[in-house]
Amino acid sequence: NVLILDFGSQYTQLIARRVRELNIFCEIFPYNHFPSDLSSYKAVILSGSPFSVRAEDAPHPDLSQIRGKMPLLAVCYGAQYLAHFSGGEVAPSNIREYGRANLSFIKEDELFFDEVNLNSQVWMSHSDTIKQLPSNGVRLASTKDVENAAYKIEGETTYAIQFHPEVYHSEDGKQMLENFLVKIAEVPQNFTPSSFVEDIVAEMKAKIGNDKVVLGLSGGVDSTVAAVLLNKAIGKNLYCIFVNNGLLRKNEFENVLKQYEGMGLNVKGVDSSERFLSELAGIDDPETKRKTIGRVFIEVFDDEAHKIEDVKFLAQGTIYPDVIESVSVKGPSATIKSHHNVGGLPDFMKLQIVEPLRMLFKDEVRRVGKTLGIDDELLGRHPFPGPGLSIRILGDITPEKVRILQEVDYVFIQGLKDHGLYDKVWQAGAILLPVNSVGVMGDERTYEKVVALRAVESTDGMTADWVHLPYDFLMKISNEIINKVKGVNRVVYDISSKPPATIEWE
Ligand code: XMP
Repeated sequence: NVLILDFGSQYTQLIARRVRELNIFCEIFPYNHFPSDLSSYKAVILSGSPFSVRAEDAPHPDLSQIRGKMPLLAVCYGAQYLAHFSGGEVAPSNIREYGRANLSFIKEDELFFDEVNLNSQVWMSHSDTIKQLPSNGVRLASTKDVENAAYKIEGETTYAIQFHPEVYHSEDGKQMLENFLVKIAEVPQNFTPSSFVEDIVAEMKAKIGNDKVVLGLSGGVDSTVAAVLLNKAIGKNLYCIFVNNGLLRKNEFENVLKQYEGMGLNVKGVDSSERFLSELAGIDDPETKRKTIGRVFIEVFDDEAHKIEDVKFLAQGTIYPDVIESVSVKGPSATIKSHHNVGGLPDFMKLQIVEPLRMLFKDEVRRVGKTLGIDDELLGRHPFPGPGLSIRILGDITPEKVRILQEVDYVFIQGLKDHGLYDKVWQAGAILLPVNSVGVMGDERTYEKVVALRAVESTDGMTADWVHLPYDFLMKISNEIINKVKGVNRVVYDISSKPPATIEWE
């Protein structure tokens, strides 16, 4: 188990992901709130930071329980921190030290640089530089512009590097992390999808005992993997509820229910389409739509949960990025859109929460899902927002608009699948615009709806680029939509990236 202390760097989660790729379990804590009992940790990594160590409000945690007592790797700010407060000198650098650099000197016979060649490319991102090493510091590597690119502290298992091994542009970054964690700190590499399944199933069994658990399924990857894990742990005591809010994709409710039944889950499908659509009637403000759907969902879910006698737990598909976000150095990031996630807990339900996936990143959830034998098709599904098509129908929502959008979306998504493009895209969908445009069909003038198609590449939805779908494909899909979907006479393609646009239009 490895502890990562976060000083607020944009790359901290990447460090964790690289460590996990080595099959080593790790946890991120903010530098100012880390566990007082460190006995279960075998090594510590200090992250980078947007701060300068010279700033008055710079993070300045007490590392006396860590330094010299266990293997420590300090990255970027971490490296400067150790230098600045332990007899070295950190000063603003004269030249910009951002981007690719190459190691021009590596000290010989250092385990940290085992299997790393001279000239290896590393990624720099800092504006201060370490002018003088701390007491007992020994230089291990340099680049053309950064003399103290890496050092260790004599007499301790403490290593410090100015560059970012976690960023892909650091060619041998993963090798260095492996050298430090495996060869130097001797941390066992035993965190695998199957070991996770074994451990979490045992943990859930112990926590839940013979009590009942209710879980809201959404058809997405996280809630499905959570359900299958819990099913393995407690079997028939898991009660899954899948609500149709009338804003799902075409045939999705029926298809997903069938799939779940095939997986042996105990699922109750609740069709509340009419209730959702009637509560949404006339609402055109995006935030009010989200809040309305969130409220109705909780009411429906709560009604259903009350029908199960003596439920003690509510299971949620929360994953690690949400957990980190909620305790991050900067605090939960400012709400740009209020996200409604399935299973939001109304106070009056008084259920205890179980979150079997709370320590996993998304790609790990998929790998665990694979180990559990869940269908690739389900695991590879694009993300789909909780409020569903409601936030892709700009303006007010009517059953007719939902029908039109479902048809358009179906043609687009099916087209992506048929042309082998679905898996190359992170998320795709269609948007129904609140404008009509003039067209001509046969000899007749038409005045009908415009739809936009959106397809993006992303890793976590925080940033996204529009996908350069082939023109031939777009032509074919556009024709098919206009020919097949009554009420649409124009198709446009969204070529905006996030930021400044968002993925959804509302
Ligand atoms: P944006 O539009 O903020 O979307 O760029 C980023 C990711 O979040 C999804 N999204 C939502 N998911 N409830 C959800 O569960 C919501 O209200 C919501 N709004 C956006 C969006 O589909 C994309 O994957």
